[in-house]
Amino acid sequence: MLRSFFNTLSRSTALQRMAAGFGPARRIARRFTAGETFDDAAAVVEELNGRGIGAILNHLGEAVDSRDDALGAAADYGAMVERADAAGLDATLSVKPTHLGLGFGENFFHETMSALVETASRTGRAIEVDMEDSSLTDATLNVYLSLLDQSAAGLRIALQTCLFRTEGDLSRLVERGGRVRLVKGAYDEPADRAWQKKDDVDRSYARLVDACFGDGARAAGFNPAFGTHDHKMIDTICETAAARGARRDDFEFQMLLGVRRDLQQRLADDGYRVRVYVPFGSHWYPYFMRRMAERPANALFVARAMLGE
Ligand code: FDA
Repeated sequence: MLRSFFNTLSRSTALQRMAAGFGPARRIARRFTAGETFDDAAAVVEELNGRGIGAILNHLGEAVDSRDDALGAAADYGAMVERADAAGLDATLSVKPTHLGLGFGENFFHETMSALVETASRTGRAIEVDMEDSSLTDATLNVYLSLLDQSAAGLRIALQTCLFRTEGDLSRLVERGGRVRLVKGAYDEPADRAWQKKDDVDRSYARLVDACFGDGARAAGFNPAFGTHDHKMIDTICETAAARGARRDDFEFQMLLGVRRDLQQRLADDGYRVRVYVPFGSHWYPYFMRRMAERPANALFVARAMLGE
């Protein structure tokens, strides 16, 4: 119930406006974000890289109000490719489809995304596509698949194990030579499309881990990433990979900035590939609220911070 409460708050534009101008809220959000500017994020990425961990840079933003805003966001991402190249960062760039204009139709998103993929391919920088709520899954997958051959540097897409459809989507992506980031799913979804109980979502995750290391996937050279902090799931992934003869660098763990830093480092020290999602920018409110929804205990951390403890 608390999860739905925070997810509902995440969609409130009035609260978003209030939070943006409220200094203490901005400071609290810093637990999960790198700061407001690219330079803030680059400093975090350099620190991660120094510890043997890659990064996934995300310029915070979603559900933009106009095509011009989406074009502006796409231009910012293009500039980020150049700045990340110049700074020699080990970082992919991850975009939210509605930040790059999916709200204005699949064709418009295809245009903005295609330009970004082309820019990134020139210097071999990989791009990732976040998955938003299930009303956007088809359009997001369509654009992803249409750009797959155009990307010379790797194009990864997130799939959510809470959705019934994901098993089918995963096999399609394996067949097409796609790359996947498997996550549980951060959005409220209706019962006719998604498992509602955490145990069911976890069981679905475990089944899909199995598929990621199945014979078909291994023969196709599938290179999965697992976006989770769930230590039991991480054990399952390591055990399944080892049992199927996958090497530790045949797949990747991905985690969020500010969550389970100890686990991130342990996996990297054990020789696994690890990337940390590093969001930055002023549009932090919905992202922050989804982090609250995932772990309502985080609200205690907020309360303590507000009281200045
Ligand atoms: P679970 O929720 O079971 O948590 C396991 C443990 O992790 C908790 O006990 C706690 O210790 C820690 N933890 C998890 N979330 C925490 C939080 N917010 N604060 C503090 N501790 C926390 N979703 C989506 O719908 N589309 C997407 O594109 C992405 N992309 C994405 C990228 C990456 C790199 C990650 C790691 C996650 C995503 N997600 C996502 C979010 C994902 O769907 C999911 O909501 C979170 O990862 C939480 O689920 P866990 O798998 O960590 O397990």
